[in-house]
Amino acid sequence: MTDIASAKADLNLNGYLDIEVDPTLDLVEEIEKLKKEKNAIILAHYYQESEIQDIADYTGDSLGLSQKAAETDADIIVFAGVHFMAETAKMLSPEKKVLLPDLKAGCSLADSCPPDIFRKFKAKHPDHIVVSYINCTAELKTLTDIVCTSTNAVHIIESIPEDQPIIFAPDKNLGAYLVKKTGRDMILWNGACMVHEIFAMEKIVKLLNRHPEAKFIAHPECEPQLLEIADFIGSTSSLIRYTRESDADTFIVGTEVGILHQMQKYSPNKTFIPAPPNNTCACNECPHMKRNTMEKLYLCMKHELPEIILPEHIIRDGIAPINRMMEISAKAGL
Ligand code: 13P
Ligand code: SF4
Repeated sequence: MTDIASAKADLNLNGYLDIEVDPTLDLVEEIEKLKKEKNAIILAHYYQESEIQDIADYTGDSLGLSQKAAETDADIIVFAGVHFMAETAKMLSPEKKVLLPDLKAGCSLADSCPPDIFRKFKAKHPDHIVVSYINCTAELKTLTDIVCTSTNAVHIIESIPEDQPIIFAPDKNLGAYLVKKTGRDMILWNGACMVHEIFAMEKIVKLLNRHPEAKFIAHPECEPQLLEIADFIGSTSSLIRYTRESDADTFIVGTEVGILHQMQKYSPNKTFIPAPPNNTCACNECPHMKRNTMEKLYLCMKHELPEIILPEHIIRDGIAPINRMMEISAKAGL
């Protein structure tokens, strides 16, 4: 283990401050203290580990997290999520310090659309506008006309004139769902999320046979054949809302397992079964989201590192499509 000077020097290599944390420390207490001392806010995604969700000032989906990042008056935003989310927060609040406990908390979906290759692809379709799912890099956002999240994607697509051709990137599964839902014929980039592609259709069907009363609920990042058999499809916040409001008592949950924490909190007497992956690994856990730990969160707040730094031109060109999304969402009351 290293001291703070060498931990800072190794930051780019490790992605986080590799410093031993005193095991006797009460991390919840320490993090609460640091929040007050530094006027910091912790924003956490529903896929974070339960302890992190519980200590966050706000836990939500990608749209809610962006809205909070834009409106907060905190000096420091600590993002308990993945890299593209922290980048979005930085673009929305460039004057604030945005921290991410582990810079290597990436996203397979964002990685599936390298901006250089996408730029050439886009050039082949000059009459198309680009709608990108927020799960993409800041650089890809600079090549985008309107950003969307799983909460507002249908509204965003429907807000575009019908004769305007669209490229949708990077998620082919969400894209196919939107084509079906809106009737718009879009060109889809061939990207996907490693977590939502791992669910095993046969095992889910078996589970449904064993629990005929259960509802199968799924995130639109899942493959089309799974969405076909889902009782409800929606963003993480919509899935949580559905389980709260539904009369059903049992749910098979087709998204990252971290979401079960909020579902169980809101509905302690209901049963939530994580949709099984197609092998025995813990692949329905997002390895990127789970890189954040309480220790890394504490260290990052204490030393104000790692920090998200973006070039000015990326902030300037990337913010326009995010702002367009925010305007359309606000008009739709989302
Ligand atoms: P939402 O929480 O916006 O539905 O996004 C899910 C997701 O995959 C985030 O990485
Ligand atoms: Fe990316 Fe999928 Fe992890 Fe979400 S769950 S951060 S889309 S890899």
